[in-house]
Amino acid sequence: MTQPKKLFIKTYGCQMNVYDSERMAEAMGGQGYVQTDSPDDADMILLNTCHIREKAAEKVYSELGRYKVLKAERPDLKIGVAGCVAQAEGEEIMRRQPMVDLVVGPQSYHRLPELEAKARSGEKALDTDFPEEDKFERLQARPKAKRGPTAFLTVQEGCDKFCAFCVVPYTRGAEVSRPADRVLTEARDLVERGVREITLLGQNVNAYHGHDRGLAGLIRELAAIDGLERIRFTTSHPNDMDDALIAAHGDCEKLMPYLHLPVQAGSDRILKRMNRHHTAEAYLKLVERLRAARPDLHLSGDFIVGFPEETEADFQATLDLVEAVQYGSAFSFKYSERPGTPAAERPQVPEAEKDDRLQRLQALLVRQQRALQDAMIGREVGVLFEKAGRRPGQMVGKSDYLHAVYVESDGLARGDLRRVRIVESSPNSLRGVLA
Ligand code: SAH
Ligand code: SF4
Ligand code: F3S
Repeated sequence: MTQPKKLFIKTYGCQMNVYDSERMAEAMGGQGYVQTDSPDDADMILLNTCHIREKAAEKVYSELGRYKVLKAERPDLKIGVAGCVAQAEGEEIMRRQPMVDLVVGPQSYHRLPELEAKARSGEKALDTDFPEEDKFERLQARPKAKRGPTAFLTVQEGCDKFCAFCVVPYTRGAEVSRPADRVLTEARDLVERGVREITLLGQNVNAYHGHDRGLAGLIRELAAIDGLERIRFTTSHPNDMDDALIAAHGDCEKLMPYLHLPVQAGSDRILKRMNRHHTAEAYLKLVERLRAARPDLHLSGDFIVGFPEETEADFQATLDLVEAVQYGSAFSFKYSERPGTPAAERPQVPEAEKDDRLQRLQALLVRQQRALQDAMIGREVGVLFEKAGRRPGQMVGKSDYLHAVYVESDGLARGDLRRVRIVESSPNSLRGVLA
């Protein structure tokens, strides 16, 4: 028997890349590769990259720089770049780092085995097309191995929104939804393999149109699968949050009370310049309707500070919106100029100003996050246990609201879903006892 070749994949960026990396590893399994968790003994290294901010893209080049030594020692080692940097920069990557053998964009992963063979034969392999065929259907069936209790499942890809700051519409292409029957088949298969919680993924997941009743229709069919206990979805755009989806948050028990709903900014002037197509007030109204359907809903958001031409008054409007919403968690970023996007051409906010605003916004968001977390003390929540904690007999899992919860108890196993009473809140986690 021939020795299996070893594949090391390093994943950057969003959950969609995490899902894609799994699928690429499976596709390469068919080529005789097994995954390894170190680049040192790999026959092939694949970086699954992110282009969202300048720092994310630069990380890729510094990581590649580190592999020079490995490649000098082992000329047979093949190095590939996948993901959004691959799509955005294409051949340029090989010019900047000639040791790169393979470049593959996010819509071409089903062609990875051919590209690998080409790279093995000593040629450079490049594919950044947006092909007609569906990569998900061409990727081979998922193997039947057992797996952990939570899984990502991509149902929608691409974006037609063209926010003025964002590269995603260029790197992932136009919005495409996978047909509901395929998604349901993949979900049933995941459940057979031990999965109890599925997070549906899409750059604009609530724009899903692979089901005649949209994402809400898909969620209700998923909820009918025995053994699937929890459903989540991310990331949503406020303008695609329809009545059916809001209603699902109220009456679909398996849909968890946590929603990532990025707003980016609180000033209508900036929202307009961002091309978001909604006002701060419309967002707040939407939040109100969601909370009317599900009063204990935890909201999460994304924010950009220092978007071109943002004034102190604009920024204050972001702080006001955050105060009005009370987020359970949030991600905030300094605006980063992305080549080829409209906002990159506009007058920029000085870096020191961006730093100052980011600090102030994050201080507020951390306070809110902590307050909502502390308010969990004394409450009983569902916890799906995912892995052993650091202490003996300790297990850690996620609450319905996505908090990390530690519990010490004999006999708890990975994949158990139990009621837990929260007794303590620390900066990034909760502690509880079985109820
Ligand atoms: N499709 C998702 C997420 C896109 S990227 C959505 O629409 O919400 C994730 C987050 O990165 C965005 O929500 C935004 O807050 C941030 N982001 C995107 N482009 C950025 C840029 N040029 N500079 C700083 N942050 C950016
Ligand atoms: Fe980017 Fe906007 Fe599309 Fe989200 S909705 S992926 S921020 S363009
Ligand atoms: Fe990054 Fe691409 Fe995701 S740019 S955030 S990996 S869609």
